Amino acid sequence: MKKLRKTVFCLIILLLLLQFYSPEKNIGESNLNVLFSETNAPESVQIIIKTSCTDCHSNLTTYPWYNNITPLNIWLNDHIEEGKSHLNFSVWNDYSLKRKAHKLEEIIEEVQEGEMPLNSYTWIHKDAILTADELSSLVSWAKSNQMKYELIMGFEDHD
Ligand code: HEC
Repeated sequence: MKKLRKTVFCLIILLLLLQFYSPEKNIGESNLNVLFSETNAPESVQIIIKTSCTDCHSNLTTYPWYNNITPLNIWLNDHIEEGKSHLNFSVWNDYSLKRKAHKLEEIIEEVQEGEMPLNSYTWIHKDAILTADELSSLVSWAKSNQMKYELIMGFEDHD
């Protein structure tokens, strides 16, 4: 019993000490205007992306209160870093045509399969859950732009 108490005490001290550590925050420029204007994103699609995706797929995250708690912040930071490395809407301008078309194709796949937004996210952010209408407007926006980028690529190939 004494040993257990000691272990619990040590764990509490460790958790308290951990609170001094927190990963660097993702609070840069969201810079979504290039994406939105280049893809002619309707207002409704802009709202969907801002509500359901950009916390993990842009340079600006709106953090929940529990991000002040270590190790929750480490876990959130992992999702953000990984999400951004796969797809970052803030740097749309830097993507090649091929990459843009491919990312749009992946967006369609991920949302249709219900993989995105992540379950762990929608568990807390209920408003990020895509309704049937939201899903179909996001997919049709992505599809038409994927086609657009592929068409431009085709033209460039024949130059
Ligand atoms: C809580 C964070 C989070 C949210 C919110 C989120 N994603 Fe993701 N996303 C990730 C992570 C982490 C990965 C990489 C690991 C994986 O595929 O599960 C990822 C991967 C992806 C990929 C795959 C890209 C590739 O190169 O394979 C696409 C596409 C994507 N997300 C689209 C979206 C869209 C669209 C939304 C909004 C409807 C969204 N995500 C919301 C965290 C998130």
